[in-house]
Amino acid sequence: MKAVICREFGPRSDLRIEEVAAPVPGKGQVTVRVEACGINFFDGLVVEGKYQTRPDRPFSPGSEVAGVIEAVGADVEGLAPGMRVLAFAGFGGYAEVTLVEADRVYPIPQSMNAVEAAAFLITYATSHHALSDRAAIKPGETLLVLGAAGGVGLTAIELGKLMGARVIAAASTDEKLALCKQYGADETINYSTEDLRQRVKSLTGERGVDVVYDPVGGAHAEAAVRSLALNGRYLVIGFAAGDIPKIALNLLLLKQSSLIGVFWGAFARTNPEHNARNMAQLFAWFADGKLKPHISASYPLDQYDEALDLVMERGAKGKVVLTMNNTMTGVAA
Ligand SMILES: NC(=O)c1ccc[n+]([C@@H]2O[C@H](COP(=O)([O-])OP(=O)(O)OC[C@H]3O[C@@H](n4cnc5c(N)ncnc54)[C@H](OP(=O)(O)O)[C@@H]3O)[C@@H](O)[C@H]2O)c1
Repeated sequence: MKAVICREFGPRSDLRIEEVAAPVPGKGQVTVRVEACGINFFDGLVVEGKYQTRPDRPFSPGSEVAGVIEAVGADVEGLAPGMRVLAFAGFGGYAEVTLVEADRVYPIPQSMNAVEAAAFLITYATSHHALSDRAAIKPGETLLVLGAAGGVGLTAIELGKLMGARVIAAASTDEKLALCKQYGADETINYSTEDLRQRVKSLTGERGVDVVYDPVGGAHAEAAVRSLALNGRYLVIGFAAGDIPKIALNLLLLKQSSLIGVFWGAFARTNPEHNARNMAQLFAWFADGKLKPHISASYPLDQYDEALDLVMERGAKGKVVLTMNNTMTGVAA
């Protein structure tokens, strides 16, 4: 089968497409013939050896796939060859066939096509876990989303609105903010041209926001912490800007606020039943038309480099997806 292979950690330009043996499922595992694979910012970090988990080499990047179960290993119940699924692979998704633990595989809802499915899992599951399980956001609270037009950011807007919050979206361009408005943001802040803290103050009558959702880190983090209301919660999602901010803890004491780490992948691995309940809620919202994954670009596997560059170089809006030149698209059977 064809796969994008990383032989050693290093620049993304070292990745190559190779012919390699297809994986065989072991106990508790299935293989999925991949129709589409969602690209995530951390795919690039993994390849460069800068992510918190470092797979054995060689490996293929790509952690979320949609496709058809090809083979099922021992002790797997409820899954069978031919089922259309989406799956949290961890690694191995930029390939025609990938290996997945059976408890991270979810049947695709009827109305969801494979490209949507490949764009659905990590972003929505992360934002749901963050806002609901970690921040316990309540109707009427105010949510500030940084990097709000990005993969996880856009889902935080949608889910924040569904959970009854007033959502302020912050991003670097007016074009990105226009998309945030389409996805339900009540207010927007362009942090390239406006002072984040002053704008939050004026939008909240000096009170500040109850919850910050931060997948960016970098220069805006301190202003966002200072923008918390009393009893605020600051969700640490990621560091797309590259810098891991250092925050003076007195800021939290003064606001009686909390810094909350979020790591959905670890949560899903250690709490599969809780995660499955969250996924069921997300699928139900999708089926009701309440969630609409935004796929701004899709590329064939051969153009994985362009697709990954778009995400890593701040060019993407919503999700970018790779497709595998096989059956694909259309509505799930
Ligand atoms: N904690 C978890 O469980 C979890 C789960 C999924 C993802 N994440 C993390 O969340 C972060 C975002 O992931 P994503 O897939 O949503 O990425 P994405 O689609 O690329 O969005 C990231 C956003 O960050 C902003 N940004 C600021 N400086 C940037 C830079 N130098 N390069 C790239 N983007 C920059 C961009 O928005 P503006 O241009 O508007 O600033 C961009 O839209 C990553 O760090 C990822 O590892 C964490």
